[in-house]
Amino acid sequence: MAVTARVPNDLEPYWMPFTANRQFKARPRLLSAAKGLHYTTTDGRTVLDGTAGLWCCNAGHGHPKIVAAIQAQAAEMDYAPAFQMGHPKAFELASRVAALAPGDLDHVFFSNSGSEAVDTALKIALAYHRARGEAGRTRLIGRERGYHGVGFGGMSVGGMANNRKTFGPMLGGVDHLPQTYDRSKQAFSRGEPEWGAHLADELERIVALHDASTIAAVIVEPVACSAGVLIPPKGYLKRLREITSKHGILLIFDEVITGFGRLGAGFGAEYFDVQPDLITCAKGLTSGAVPMGATIARKHIYDAFMSGPEHVIELFHGYTYSGHPLACAAALAALDVYAEEGLFSKVRELAPYWAEAVHALKGLPHVVDLRNLGLIAAIELDPIAGQPAKRAFDAFLRAYDKGLLVRTTGDIIALSPPLTITRATVDEIFGKLAEVLREMA
Ligand SMILES: Cc1ncc(COP(=O)(O)O)c(C=O)c1O
Repeated sequence: MAVTARVPNDLEPYWMPFTANRQFKARPRLLSAAKGLHYTTTDGRTVLDGTAGLWCCNAGHGHPKIVAAIQAQAAEMDYAPAFQMGHPKAFELASRVAALAPGDLDHVFFSNSGSEAVDTALKIALAYHRARGEAGRTRLIGRERGYHGVGFGGMSVGGMANNRKTFGPMLGGVDHLPQTYDRSKQAFSRGEPEWGAHLADELERIVALHDASTIAAVIVEPVACSAGVLIPPKGYLKRLREITSKHGILLIFDEVITGFGRLGAGFGAEYFDVQPDLITCAKGLTSGAVPMGATIARKHIYDAFMSGPEHVIELFHGYTYSGHPLACAAALAALDVYAEEGLFSKVRELAPYWAEAVHALKGLPHVVDLRNLGLIAAIELDPIAGQPAKRAFDAFLRAYDKGLLVRTTGDIIALSPPLTITRATVDEIFGKLAEVLREMA
């Protein structure tokens, strides 16, 4: 068979994820290096990372401690089988993650991404009820505008139409809570909006419709980030916890973004003082340096599986790369960096300054809402008539040209910089964004 040599800069074969492929390939944006708060482009420009990669590089890029840990691990042991075998770092990391998670969330199942962490949580929820003799609890409840990754489970409980509409009927027995955002009631709220806690009561309606005995779990993001940074109304998450507890329904917090300091705490569960039954996480777990996801379960959930003959596998689930040595090494180093550099408390200190900077954009052209929490922000723009998402994407391109990386979803600009950011870089981010918005008047 003839081998066709391809020129190195042929962009065609790579089918890019969540990307307008033709548009990108006509005008590519290629990054070649990263250090601290900045990327370098292939044409030698420096770009300030306003998004921590994709909400993941919480310790900044190329942290020497994380780099050294990965290098040393690659040299020492590249891989150890994950099934019926183990290696010490996976156990150490599980202990460290359990120690960081609130309450008795103390057992950790490793995977390779947020999507896998979510599918793992949904499967654990179903199998848990079955193990306890409630096999009829098979329904899963997600939320409109939720994002739980792209597996069939996560997509089914997710609530973003574009991610769902082309993929058929998905999982059966799924229902959705209403989303929590209403601009007419919440616009320009600082932090958690006052209005909207009552939307959690919709769960009572869903329970009345299906009966609690058919419902396994409710899954929500404490802050719905990917759909445009929807901050939970004050009291909403506590109310969800009350209702799920009352009906024996598991509550899953998808903390793929809110985990590891984004809100100034180990997890959103701690920040909001609400104890879920399962937490999913990924991204900041390794500071984005090696792919890894994790599902953290409360003790009673793990214990429910630990019956029957001891030689029988308790949960028929896992990934070849569960607890991969390189990911474990990166995660252990990332957790050290977060602790040694006090990054979560730095976020708490910086959050009020961040909030001021976000809300100072009020009144600039096309800005219809501003939202913030921890080191997260959204700038919602008025859409161009008949061309949804175009205005924000134009802003993204202009910001990139000015050396600032932001993220957009629909007509919303989302920001989530590395937790190592300083006041001066906060000023730089919002200074550039203000310029962009003024230019677009
Ligand atoms: C809340 C949430 N869950 C799941 C995912 C999926 O994670 P991954 O892309 O690692 O599969 C994401 C990704 O942004 C997320 O924000």
